[in-house]
Amino acid sequence: MSYDEYYVKSVIRTLPDWPEPGVMFRDITPLFKDPKALRMISDAFIQRYMDSEMTHIACIDARGFLIASIMAYQLQKPLVLVRKKGKLPGKTVHQEYQLEYGTSAVEMQVDSVSAGDKVLVFDDLIATGGTILAACTLIKTLGANVIECAALIDLPDLQGSTRIQDTGIPVYTLLAYE
Ligand code: PRP
Ligand code: ADE
Repeated sequence: MSYDEYYVKSVIRTLPDWPEPGVMFRDITPLFKDPKALRMISDAFIQRYMDSEMTHIACIDARGFLIASIMAYQLQKPLVLVRKKGKLPGKTVHQEYQLEYGTSAVEMQVDSVSAGDKVLVFDDLIATGGTILAACTLIKTLGANVIECAALIDLPDLQGSTRIQDTGIPVYTLLAYE
């Protein structure tokens, strides 16, 4: 099934002023009710990373988990979790960051990745880039390399993908919303 951007965009829902006034919330939950759209986006990412040097996929809590786990299954790569603070047992590292709406912190277990690993960081959406950059900091703290950051949606007006690229890490996204 070939990727059809027009079709995928028709499935994603936009909710103005949620969760706060001024935010145009791009709701991807309808994608998971639509097997055709889910297959299209999953296959597009799988195709992109089929012959990649990537050794691990790091996926971000919570919406990032959904598509990344399909990729990890098909690409037969280890999936490691970047979770909101306080969710992971055992020894962790954590990093604070700012969101489009508020502040938060993410954590990884210290044995998630190690020196020499080549990690793809995956999330559903890049807004300010704060979440993905915090994940990249954690991965580097653990001694591994981030080879690329990928997301389904980029919000280029918020300049997150530019912020990530400015650190020298490539960014790949399927859709943009102005
Ligand atoms: C959303 C989204 C990204 C992040 C993007 O997550 O899923 O992770 O915001 O924003 P940024 O580029 O400005 O950092 P959210 O924290 O709302 O959590 P959720 O996935 O659990 O809904
Ligand atoms: N995360 C941060 N900003 C967002 C937005 N505008 N839509 C959906 N998720 C988001």
